[in-house]
Amino acid sequence: MAKYRIAWLPGDGVGKEVMEAAKIVFDGLKLDAEYIHGDIGWEFWCKEGDPLPKRTTDMMKTTDAALFGAITSKPQKEAKNELVPELRDKGLTYFSPIVRLRQEFDLYCNERPNIAIPGNPLNLNGKEDINITVFRENTEGSYAGVEYGPVSDELKAALAKDSPKMKFFMDTPGEDLAISTRIITRKGAERIIRAAFEHARKFGKKKVTLVEKPNVLRKTGGLMVEVFEKIAAEYPEITAWFDNVDAIGMWLVKCPEKYEVLVAENLFGDIISDLCSQLVGGLGFAHSGNIGSNYAVFEPVHGSAPKYTGMYKVNPMATILAGKMLCTYLGEHEMAARIQKGVELTVKERKVVTYDLGGTAKTLEVAEEILKNALK
Ligand code: IPM
Ligand code: MN
Repeated sequence: MAKYRIAWLPGDGVGKEVMEAAKIVFDGLKLDAEYIHGDIGWEFWCKEGDPLPKRTTDMMKTTDAALFGAITSKPQKEAKNELVPELRDKGLTYFSPIVRLRQEFDLYCNERPNIAIPGNPLNLNGKEDINITVFRENTEGSYAGVEYGPVSDELKAALAKDSPKMKFFMDTPGEDLAISTRIITRKGAERIIRAAFEHARKFGKKKVTLVEKPNVLRKTGGLMVEVFEKIAAEYPEITAWFDNVDAIGMWLVKCPEKYEVLVAENLFGDIISDLCSQLVGGLGFAHSGNIGSNYAVFEPVHGSAPKYTGMYKVNPMATILAGKMLCTYLGEHEMAARIQKGVELTVKERKVVTYDLGGTAKTLEVAEEILKNALK
């Protein structure tokens, strides 16, 4: 029996291609694992009305961790039209499977490292000293899915009772009103903020920054700041401060080397992590771990890139680096270091790289090159 059971979730589009690439590296490095395929993605929405069938989550529960490729998401109307005819009138609603996985497995910590690889021509302004890890809360905030529209008179009245500002919307008819909530719990705030500080302490990092907007989002932002200040006091060796989300967008472009660890609620973390990824090469490199207390799902941050599907054109480095995070999670530290080295050498030499790095190599050729360099 293999040492590890890994749920293998390629998903849609180029997700399948980049996962093939990751498999080349795992096999070449002889990761002692059994890979169990899981159905997930657009195909299963269209055929079964569920992009994340129960058999997949059941299977995942028998594994140590998962690697996930990418999935296609489309607006609600298009999603309905693509269902097989017999499912069309069933009132089904499409929800992003990755967002569901994060919630259902309580994978509260979305860790997104953005580390400049020396010699990467895509590093912002040639900077090589960028090393920013984003800790994005992954189960609540604006992603909690608590939304209303049309809004009932009862809800309007209830909101008006507790929130004076609701008066500006009382005359708007319910059908012309839409409300999306941003939910922050103390527990949710505490565990992501603690994860960020623990990471900083473990890796000797000296700075942790909270990304928020408490001057406008007074309740939720206020709670985040309160919890942040309390936890920061437990880590006196670390300099902690908060930046507003808009301002940090500017600062990150201007002087990214000033930041080490960022922590944010779900949506701010989503936005800021795309920005950070672009500082060090963009989505071809952006990788992440969705980590909970008992389980974790690793994934590249990019989508399924339908226009490139079947072309084996996209950079597999993001997925291979997600694979590195998976190795670290499993305790396979030497293998993780080899993968990092393999990617770094491949980028530095730029002999076998994809179009984003100025090359002409195909996805799987890059994987072979990374493996060769990892084995050196
Ligand atoms: C990400 C993605 C997802 C998100 C999408 C695909 C739902 O953008 O992982 O950052 O918004 O979280
Ligand atoms: Mn995103």
